[in-house]
Amino acid sequence: MKIIHTKDQQPISQFSLGMMNLPLDNKIEVEAIIEYALSVGINYFDTADLYQFGDNEKVVGEILSKYRSQYNFTVGTKVGNKFNEMKREQIGWNPSKKHIIESVKDSLQRLNVSSIDLYQLHGGTIEDNKDETIEAFESLKQEGIIKSYGISSIRLNVIDYYAKNSNISTLMSQFNILDNRPLETLDMIQDDIVMLARGPLMQGLLTDKYLEVLSKKHKGGVLGINKDELVNQLSTLQEKYDSLTELSYSFLKYHNAVIVNGVSSLEQLKENVTAFNNASSLDASEYDDLYKQLNILKYEEHRP
Ligand SMILES: NC(=O)c1ccc[n+]([C@@H]2O[C@H](COP(=O)([O-])OP(=O)(O)OC[C@H]3O[C@@H](n4cnc5c(N)ncnc54)[C@H](OP(=O)(O)O)[C@@H]3O)[C@@H](O)[C@H]2O)c1
Repeated sequence: MKIIHTKDQQPISQFSLGMMNLPLDNKIEVEAIIEYALSVGINYFDTADLYQFGDNEKVVGEILSKYRSQYNFTVGTKVGNKFNEMKREQIGWNPSKKHIIESVKDSLQRLNVSSIDLYQLHGGTIEDNKDETIEAFESLKQEGIIKSYGISSIRLNVIDYYAKNSNISTLMSQFNILDNRPLETLDMIQDDIVMLARGPLMQGLLTDKYLEVLSKKHKGGVLGINKDELVNQLSTLQEKYDSLTELSYSFLKYHNAVIVNGVSSLEQLKENVTAFNNASSLDASEYDDLYKQLNILKYEEHRP
């Protein structure tokens, strides 16, 4: 498995595991997923304090703790959302220093770790007091409470600010052959900041089950592309390339992005790992050919 190192020397496997959709009510399956992931060389696990109002961090932390002596891995979590763990409700957005310094303690405890490998701001707007947020991350890093930090954002103006004024080592954005808007961000982050591509399968749409996923999750289409257009686009791509999953992974490998794949079963993870291993690295002419067939999108709002 290819390992990409962030500028803070955090090792991140090119195929990584997003924990958001794990079936937390079935701990045996969750442990089987994590154990399989580790066994095939996956070493980056992505969670957030908000996922299942803290429960995701707790379950993931408990299971990963069992494997710490056997494997080296990196855990990323996120901060910035206010939520009530007891009432299980989201309250609002808070990227203040006070909130970050308080929240990190809860995440450390839930994850059962003494420091956080990668601490990401879970969104944010251009109106936030971004310098205060950066100060919070920098001071946590200096104290050794976090080893590195990043942001999760699809706002170009926010990304531009953090890329220029902070030491973020990662940027997480939805990135795949359909949602290819981050092509615009690659110039902003260059080689210095690792792109963590979330939604690499567009929540299952980029699999051979796309018709089923389309009617279940995306009846109204996605990103302004209606259902009929999507069926047309996806069936044409599948006919030419055989596997939409391999195609999306090849596209992301070409851009040296980390593929942060979410799964809700071990079966899905096994299918995806096989597809990742089969996904060829495209050469420049294959990439140009693919690019011509994609519907290239741009971020319409929140531009610098
Ligand atoms: N703002 C943020 O920071 C943010 C937002 C979203 C996600 N994330 C992170 O990114 C990770 C991945 O995001 P995502 O869940 O949107 O990505 P994704 O990998 O595109 O979608 C995951 C979902 O796709 C379906 N799927 C996966 N493999 C499949 C297969 N082989 N066959 C059929 N369906 C399959 C499953 O849906 P079903 O469960 O319905 O079967 C799975 O839950 C998350 O876990 C989280 O860590 C971050």
